[in-house]
Amino acid sequence: MDNPVEAIQSVKLDDDNDTLILLDQTLLPNEKVFLELKEMKDVWDAIYELKVRGAPAIGIAAAYGVYLGTKKSTAGTYEDLYEDFKKVKEYLASSRPTAVNLFWALDRMDTRFQNEKGKNVLQVKAALKEEAEQIRAEDEEVCKSIGTHALTLLKPEWGILTHCNAGTIATAKYGTALAPIYLGQEQGYNFKVYADETRPLLQGARLTAWELQEAGVDVTLLCDNMASIVMKEGKVQAVLVGCDRVAANGDTANKIGTSGVAILAKHYNIPFYVCAPLSTIDLTCETGEDIHIELRPSEEVTTTWYEKPMAPKDVKTYNPAFDVTDHTLISGIVTENGIAYAPFNDSLPKMFQQKK
Ligand code: MRU
Repeated sequence: MDNPVEAIQSVKLDDDNDTLILLDQTLLPNEKVFLELKEMKDVWDAIYELKVRGAPAIGIAAAYGVYLGTKKSTAGTYEDLYEDFKKVKEYLASSRPTAVNLFWALDRMDTRFQNEKGKNVLQVKAALKEEAEQIRAEDEEVCKSIGTHALTLLKPEWGILTHCNAGTIATAKYGTALAPIYLGQEQGYNFKVYADETRPLLQGARLTAWELQEAGVDVTLLCDNMASIVMKEGKVQAVLVGCDRVAANGDTANKIGTSGVAILAKHYNIPFYVCAPLSTIDLTCETGEDIHIELRPSEEVTTTWYEKPMAPKDVKTYNPAFDVTDHTLISGIVTENGIAYAPFNDSLPKMFQQKK
């Protein structure tokens, strides 16, 4: 399943130089610039500023950030190193609140640290590097599996609408919601993809449309308010989206605007599927009410991406970065271990027990 976009690798470690290499997603589609980060503060900034974005990619970047931050510690004992590690972890955890993959990856690094008890500091640092590399490598396999499961839901020639970017650059490789599209393309499915531009940060226009076009997929860019007309015109047979956190009852937080798309899909009787690695499912959140929704600066609505301000100076704005799609609007949640259907309270825990 290789195409020019999947060859990119948006988050990786330069092993020789212990440098995190990130594709700066804020510069796409105009420039393809790879950042070289050595400091945990730079990793924090890159996450906050969405230079690296997409729940799985954020988790991977944070894992590498923990390694880079802890590596700088001058502590001489396991215990002292753990004190420094906890500070690094806490710092990176404050970068963005909604994507649970961030916390999942940080906790996994913590568990690995604790499993190394008795080792010297150099050995623990090497273990952290290994764990971060493992998190990245596993995500590739996870996305591949999601693609395989999700493709069973789709038929050749279908029109598929997606929101935001859940593609290869939002993950280690392949993407989540875009993984079945790439796989289908290899198998001659000839999908027609409709990409919502995804205001205010335009991940759909800048990233999804770019990714799919580069990969040779038939993609049409829509303004967010055009989803209804393409559905009404019969051009969309399924909606596929990614997610930042799925609660135990199936309520799903994803990029702002997703819940509106789900409501439209229900109205037009179009299946609405969420593609979710298990690392994005948070069974500790009972419902979407428990999910912390990030609020972002007003400039993203009024000036960012524009040559001139597109709103009166000092106008009040409200800029929630995510919304929660009610579980009743979701036809299925596709994980690497299979597809969960309602009632999600029963089916999601089973996904954690199943083998691929
Ligand atoms: O604010 P972003 O761009 O990080 O939001 C990303 C999304 O909402 C994606 O759909 C989600 O993280 C899934 S990425 C596989």
